[in-house]
Amino acid sequence: MALQNINPTKTESWKKLNQHFSEVQNLELKELFKDSSRKDDFTLSTDGLSVDLSKNRITKETMDLLISLAEEVDLKGAIESQFTGEKINETEGRAVLHTALRSTSEEPVLVDGKNIKPRIQSTLRKIKSFSKKVISGKWKGYTGKSITDVVNIGIGGSDLGPDMVVESLKFYQNHLNVHFVSNVDGDHVSEVIKHLDPETTLFIIVSKTFTTQETISNAETIKNWFLKSATIFDIPKHFVAVSTNLDAVRRFGIDKDNVFPMWNWVGGRFSLWSAVGLSISLAVGFDNYRKLLDGAEAMDLHFRNTSFENNIPVQLALISVWYNNFFMAESEAILPYSQYLSKLPAYLQQAIMESNGKGVDRNGEVVDYQTGTIIWGSTGTNMQHAFMQLVHQGTKLIPTEFIGFKESLHGLESHHKKLMANYFGQMNALAFGKTKQEVHLELKTSNDEDLIQKLLPFKVFEGNRPSTAILFDKLTPEALGKLIAIYEHKIFTQGILWNIYSFDQFGVELGKEMAKKLLNKEQ
Ligand code: F6P
Repeated sequence: MALQNINPTKTESWKKLNQHFSEVQNLELKELFKDSSRKDDFTLSTDGLSVDLSKNRITKETMDLLISLAEEVDLKGAIESQFTGEKINETEGRAVLHTALRSTSEEPVLVDGKNIKPRIQSTLRKIKSFSKKVISGKWKGYTGKSITDVVNIGIGGSDLGPDMVVESLKFYQNHLNVHFVSNVDGDHVSEVIKHLDPETTLFIIVSKTFTTQETISNAETIKNWFLKSATIFDIPKHFVAVSTNLDAVRRFGIDKDNVFPMWNWVGGRFSLWSAVGLSISLAVGFDNYRKLLDGAEAMDLHFRNTSFENNIPVQLALISVWYNNFFMAESEAILPYSQYLSKLPAYLQQAIMESNGKGVDRNGEVVDYQTGTIIWGSTGTNMQHAFMQLVHQGTKLIPTEFIGFKESLHGLESHHKKLMANYFGQMNALAFGKTKQEVHLELKTSNDEDLIQKLLPFKVFEGNRPSTAILFDKLTPEALGKLIAIYEHKIFTQGILWNIYSFDQFGVELGKEMAKKLLNKEQ
């Protein structure tokens, strides 16, 4: 069944939400927390994960109304359409099946009448055996040496996902050094290859289309560099490709046994679960890669089968719509308290903004309401010493998502205690602030009342600034898989609510065309 086509702002629920907003917009978190069960009432949990929504400017009624909105636009039906392979990416005539990539169930998923599960399984087997050979050293380069370095050549979804996951799972990484080349800036590729040995380096060219300017330019440059010391007969030992465009891969000179398939029903920014994740499997081993997929599958099942009241991605999406469309907040900050997750905000910028940065609805009409949020962020505690000033005392309302882990990986307990004290401390400060009276009391030690009065306004924190605490037990491959899948489903839910198509990206094309024209003019 095609997606429904409902303007959210014309629904009954939206009208009620508007009315409700006028009643509750000035409610203070401080007041709301007088209800001692608030934290429990607004905390959702699943295996190894809790999501505390209590420091958001919501009441039970807010969430009930938002859920009615989700029901009114048939979110349930849309979820089923996605999971069962309906062509919900209508503008490109494609299904959206990253969920099938991690599914271990026997339930067939049909695309054009064919079950895609066997192809997924055989590709996973290929990833497994290839990773094993390379990691164990059995895969030899052209002079008989084992591989020491892997270079992923790709951009956008063919780079950000694998790069972010490899960085996030560094703790689990084996001896292989994994590098990423993405930018068409020649200095990027030059810096990466400058210390590499062609005899011991494996290159993975990742491009769904195999026509992307940046990727093909970098791949050509690297091939030429390689051929300075090796011959074309050595290419099969050092170059593999991940693509849907088999002809272009062959023309580039890559052996057909060295091609890992990709499919049109997987969007670039949702593709790390496909062979695009080959560099992940090489970096941390196939078993850990499978665990990443398992974590994502657990979240898929949660998203598909849990009531909206207890559904983590749905609740996060609804709250985000609440701020975006009623409070008119423009952006959202994603704040992981783990240095391993330093690349998560950039990854989510593509996932979220390329998906929901749309100004035309599913009827082809220009929307007259806000859609995709601006995503930004960085790791705690570093960002506390950078942009958090604006979040605490600036003029903008910025909803925040704090991602934390109860346990650290290396076990430096005293550090982890400090890290988590900051994690919770920041959220408390945002929510409850510091009143004039409190500041006055604090400054009292100085005895200079004039000075106190002068400084007072600058030291007040008005508070009432929202945050969500996403707290995992530990940064494992499963936990990371869950976290990424939460955001994928949040994106999907918001696209459905806003009545836009989340899975095309025509907005990236015009600039590319212009660049091409300029290049052609110069030649
Ligand atoms: O420019 C946008 C985009 O199409 C992304 O959606 C995609 O992830 C990226 O380019 C790379 O595309 P490809 O994998 O085809 O090289």
